Parts: sequence; C-alpha cells; structure tokens
Amino acid sequence: MSLEKLQIYDLRLIEQADLALSPSFNLIYGKNASGKSTLLEAVDILSRGRSFRSRIVRELIRKDAQYLTLSASILDSSGLKHRVGIQKQRQATRLRIDGKPIQTMSTLATLLPVQLIHPEGYTLISGAPPERRAYMNWGVFHVKHEYLSVWRRYQRALQQRNKALRVHAPKETVSAWHTELQQTANEIDTLRSNYIAALTSHITQYSNLLFANDVVRVDYKRGWLNEESMFEALERKLPIDLDRGFTSVGPHRADLAVYLHDQQAAAYASRGQQKTLVAVLRLAQASLLLATQQSSCIFMVDDLASELDSDHRKAFLSALKNLKCQTIVTAIDPAFVNGEDFPEGRVFHVKQGRVQRSE
Ligand SMILES: Nc1ncnc2c1ncn2[C@@H]1O[C@H](COP(=O)(O)OP(=O)(O)OP(=O)(O)O)[C@@H](O)[C@H]1O
Ligand SMILES: [Mg+2]
Repeated sequence: MSLEKLQIYDLRLIEQADLALSPSFNLIYGKNASGKSTLLEAVDILSRGRSFRSRIVRELIRKDAQYLTLSASILDSSGLKHRVGIQKQRQATRLRIDGKPIQTMSTLATLLPVQLIHPEGYTLISGAPPERRAYMNWGVFHVKHEYLSVWRRYQRALQQRNKALRVHAPKETVSAWHTELQQTANEIDTLRSNYIAALTSHITQYSNLLFANDVVRVDYKRGWLNEESMFEALERKLPIDLDRGFTSVGPHRADLAVYLHDQQAAAYASRGQQKTLVAVLRLAQASLLLATQQSSCIFMVDDLASELDSDHRKAFLSALKNLKCQTIVTAIDPAFVNGEDFPEGRVFHVKQGRVQRSE
C-alpha cells in the first residue's frame, strides 16, 4: 500500500502543504525547524490518530488556527484507491473514509500500517515496557484482525476490576472479573506469543543484515508467571492489588526482552547499536506483514543520518526496497541520503513550513 497525495492544513508551522509522493522513495530535506518532522507527524496522525511527538492536540494545531486537517489518497494492497481524512479540534476528532464519516480510528489504522523510526525511538530498547507492548500490539493488530476486539474486552474487564480495587469493594466484587480476565488474557497471550514466534526468523534475517551475524534475540514475557494460570495469578495478587488499588498482573504488564550477544540490550548495547536494533525489529515487522498479509507498510525515518551510519543506511534502504515499503525519510543535508537505488524516488525541500518538490 502507499500514500499518493498528502494534504496538510494548519499542522504546527505548516499552513498548507500538498505532496504528491512517490510509491517507492521520498526524501524530505530542509534546515532545522523547517517542518520536516511535522510532515512525518502528519502521516503518523493519519495512521494512528495521534503524533509520535505530542498527545496534546493544542500543540499540533497551528498557532492562530482552530483545527488541523489532514487528508490523503491511499492505494491499498489490492490496488483500490481510498480517500481518507482527519480533522482535529482541541476537543473533537472527525474521521472520514471515502467521503463517509467513521467512528473508530482502527478502521484508518488498518488501511495505513506505518512504521516510524525517529531520534528518540531507541527507547523501544532502553525505555519502559509500554514501548515494547505498543510494538507487539502493532504487529498482532495488523496480522490478526480479531486482536482488537479481545484487547478491548480485556481492557473493559481490567478497568472494572481496577475500579473495584480503588473503592475497596468486597473481594467477591473484585474476583467477579477474574473469569473474563483469564479468558481474554489467554487469547491475547496466544496471539502475542504466536506473533513473536513467527517474527523470530525475520528478526534473524535483519540481524544478519545489520549486525553481520545472528546476535539479536527477543524473549516474550506474557505479564504473569508461566507456572500459574491468569486466574491463579489474579487470586494470589488480590491482597496486594487491594492494597495498591490496581491490577499488577496480566497482558497489560507484558514485555519483550531484547538481547544483543546474549546480554540485555537496554543495559549493554551502545546508543548506535540500540538504534540499529530498532531498525532490525521494525524491518522484521514489515517483513512479516508482507509475508502473511501480502501488505507492505509505509516506512518513515526522521533524520536518517542521525539514526544509522552510512554502511547501515545503505543496507537498511536496500532492505526497504526489497520489502516494497513506501519510504519517507528526512535529512538536514540531502547529501547524507543516497537515493540512487530508487530511480523513481522524489525529493522535497521544506523551508519555513512550505514544501516544494525539487529537481
Ligand atoms: N502549533 C504550532 N504553531 C506554529 N508553529 C509551530 C507549532 N508547533 C511547533 N511549531 C514550530 O514548528 C517548527 C518545528 O518544525 P519541525 O520540528 O517539523 O522542524 P524540523 O525540520 O523537523 O527541524 P529539526 O531539523 O530541528 O528536527 C518549530 O520552529 C516550531 O516552533
Ligand atoms: Mg525534526
């Protein structure tokens, strides 16, 4: 799939921009504060409903404007064209696909699988577990469409149990949620562990490409002990949870341990190695998506030159080409990004929020 046209109104410093993107490779360059990351933010908001840089809508809307509007035409994996749009005001979001209003962001997210690497993205390795759960969730969501409904069921039951814990409800009221939590937790666990098992050979493939040999390993942790059922875990933790007022076990506490040379990458890998690990993990997801869904994702890299050195950049870009990913990268200096593998690639120059196709 790919984005053909991208239109932006009133996003940060961009008053209006209109980009006709190449389905293969796009380089966006410009000086500091010209609006490069803002362009990637636009695609991120279209795909996930929010930006990788801020959850606060007020910050995203251009100063003096009331709302921001993004729209795009998309070519999906079966070659069908769709028109998608999102409008964000401080308090409300409106979504449209093919002229019709839609209620949930997941419909847009399904159409637009986006992988993003940005300068703070190494926190996928060294940051807190939510980063890695979001990584797993992205993968399972795009490969198994039943995931979202079971995840929502789990979240609903979890919220109810937490509410009961907070108000110090009787134990029976708290435990009443344990059967539903166990059932949904088991389904989530099965989907996630199968996904990570399928991802492993793809991780090895890109580990071999970017680290020269097979040195990357991931270990899925489901969020409660392997030797007990979720039900048993919830019962065992009940006194502690009542004391703390929240549920301390379950898929909402899952994690993915990442190892480099059998050492925990968060503590052992250099910053550059952590960034390369992020590239390995994200390429692996794109590769599995292509293998199982015949769907290619959009791959964006903010400030490519600061993410990978020149040898890694070359290998990384050729991997994206093989994965048929529509690629959008930004750079301060276009000389740092070699797009020669992409004769049909396009280059855009951004200056003070205005975008122009160059060449
Ligand atoms: N809501 C807003 N309204 C107007 N301008 C904004 C708003 N939010 C941010 N800006 C401005 O937008 C610019 C940021 O643009 P952006 O981060 O996209 O630049 P960049 O080209 O990625 O820069 P760098 O190379 O430093 O990463 C800043 O000058 C910032 O002050
Ligand atoms: Mg930037």
